[in-house]
Amino acid sequence: MTAEQDRVRWNGRYRQRTPSFTPHPLVAHAAEAGLPPGPVLELACGPSGSALTLAAGGRAVTAVDVSDVALEQLRTEAERRGLAARLTCVRADAGAALSAHAGPWAMVLATLFWDAGVFTAAAGAVAPGGLLAWEALRAPDEPSRDVPHPYRVPHGQPARLLPDRFTVAWQAAGETTTRLLARARF
Ligand SMILES: C[S@@+](CC[C@H](N)C(=O)[O-])C[C@H]1O[C@@H](n2cnc3c(N)ncnc32)[C@H](O)[C@@H]1O
Repeated sequence: MTAEQDRVRWNGRYRQRTPSFTPHPLVAHAAEAGLPPGPVLELACGPSGSALTLAAGGRAVTAVDVSDVALEQLRTEAERRGLAARLTCVRADAGAALSAHAGPWAMVLATLFWDAGVFTAAAGAVAPGGLLAWEALRAPDEPSRDVPHPYRVPHGQPARLLPDRFTVAWQAAGETTTRLLARARF
């Protein structure tokens, strides 16, 4: 699916929903683990409560999504909360955004999104001492030839794709998702 097809599909979904703006639990995990100073990049953000929470905590946040509807919902809520000055919304494909906004970032965050190439590029954009925080839909551990899972990844696979300079701070498999928090060495 192209980024334009994704944009149309996700715009349709977001128009039908009222956003909850609930921050993702990975944001609290990252705060507990220790987040170095500096800006944060969130990829495939949707109308993100995580971006709002990070901005409310004083972070400069760049939030990327292909959906202009999601970004408008996020921007409107950031203005309502007086956080707009700390939030930059970028409508772009996540991979393209990483080329244009290479960092380094104190944290790169993505939730409910998977693209192995984007994951690897995101790891490369994390500052020394910074965090990569990721949640993806979980694929079966035993790959099936009959049912391809282009947007899913088996638990453990993201950690195996990390460059050598990362250590896994925490990872967990849920029923439907896999989560990872990894830190780049200084
Ligand atoms: C399942 S939603 C997750 C949204 C949010 N991160 C969350 O956890 O609720 C997937 C998001 O990825 C965005 N998306 C899909 N393809 C994308 C791409 N190639 N680049 C950037 N964002 C993309 C969609 O617009 C949508 O907001």
